[in-house]
Amino acid sequence: MPGLIGLNVNGQRVEVPAGASVAAAVATLGVPFRRSRSGQPRAPLCGMGVCFECRVQIDGVAQLRACMTPAREGMQVSTDA
Ligand code: FES
Repeated sequence: MPGLIGLNVNGQRVEVPAGASVAAAVATLGVPFRRSRSGQPRAPLCGMGVCFECRVQIDGVAQLRACMTPAREGMQVSTDA
């Protein structure tokens, strides 16, 4: 469908509107974000690049903020790497 782009989150394909963030793609799929060192589930908090709670690995690069990264076609995202 025009206007949608597809990416993979934890090996699952998800489609989001062009211009959506990686955080939106992860939320659309409904998979959990990362866990803290003590095992607590974490999720986006500020949505504007300040809190770093939305960190994911994208195309092999760790610790990127999902809320600040536009989703791109074919992107490989891991939420718990
Ligand atoms: S949600 Fe706060 S930096 Fe991404």
